[in-house]
Amino acid sequence: MTDRPPNSPSETELDELSRSEMARLGNKLDDVEIVHLADQWPVKGTRTEKRAERGVAMWFLVCGLSALASAALFIWWPWEYQPPGSGEHLSYQLYTPLVGLTIGLCVLSLGMGVIAYAKKFLPAEVAVQTRHDGPSDEVDRRTFAALVSEAGATSGLTRRKMITRTAGFGAGAMGLGLTVVGLGGLVKNPWAEGNESALVTTGWRSVDGERVYLRRDTGDPHEVVLVRPDDLDAGSIETVFPFRRSEEGDEEALVKGLRRADSPVMLLRLRPGTQVTQRKGQEGFNYGDYWAYSKVCTHLGCPTSLYETQTNRILCPCHQSQFDATMYAKPIFGPATRALPQLPIDVDEEGFFYALHDFNEPIGPAYWERKS
Ligand code: FES
Repeated sequence: MTDRPPNSPSETELDELSRSEMARLGNKLDDVEIVHLADQWPVKGTRTEKRAERGVAMWFLVCGLSALASAALFIWWPWEYQPPGSGEHLSYQLYTPLVGLTIGLCVLSLGMGVIAYAKKFLPAEVAVQTRHDGPSDEVDRRTFAALVSEAGATSGLTRRKMITRTAGFGAGAMGLGLTVVGLGGLVKNPWAEGNESALVTTGWRSVDGERVYLRRDTGDPHEVVLVRPDDLDAGSIETVFPFRRSEEGDEEALVKGLRRADSPVMLLRLRPGTQVTQRKGQEGFNYGDYWAYSKVCTHLGCPTSLYETQTNRILCPCHQSQFDATMYAKPIFGPATRALPQLPIDVDEEGFFYALHDFNEPIGPAYWERKS
């Protein structure tokens, strides 16, 4: 038998109380005084009440429809990059705003529905409670459950079928949308192309032995400027992108080279005489004082765009990971645990930088099949 405070009812007495009596007892035991309690709809079934009910149901309906719309957009909308000028570029640009808009509308209308219901249908109540210390006893817990149940009953939710159905539809569709978004990435087999899969290749992969050059982004996607060693001062950095001679004049390929998420590489020129440790298996990946590392952070994929010349540290602004440029970009601070992959580079007979081959490991954050 649980200890109970003096003057409180026994378990047998509690079992005999109705829900309303139990709720009143709960108020009394909690030192709650109901100063004012008024049903917002003393006359049931009026046209005004029905209109208010439809207003609340409308919000839940909008919530459900927007959740379904966002799931449909996520599955069927053409999301892959399309260059400006092509017929599908507008669709590509609209993908993210539309998914965001429908998810936002769903959450907003769900909140609006709950607020509208509370304002229009919950009884207007003013209660005053005296605070007390310590944990609640058995009687308090049971009477509290009765209070919650009583609140549900007096709110009239059980007899407002339109609201309960639309709220169920809204919440269900929202759950479905979240499930689709969560599982969407698992539907496609990322290894369908074997060693050519997107997870293990980047824009630096050579096709049919064609050289991939290091290109500067001038702001004009159609202008091609290749990088030479003299373009960088000692202790400086430049972000470069892949370029193949066969892409010359091909607007779409030129733009894609700059936009591919796995393309950006940091080309660093260390100061002369800087002591460097080469990673096993990556010997000779540098060209003199020039070192090229993937710009995609190995923590969560942000661009590691900051370089501190004095300490030779590369910094990621997202969660402050730091990588030592003199130690094959090994992480020395922050949440990242793997070195930035290094791109092997050389200079051709005309004096332009090019990549000897693609990275020798996947770039970016971890995934479960990854070994390194
Ligand atoms: S993404 Fe770079 S530290 Fe988190």
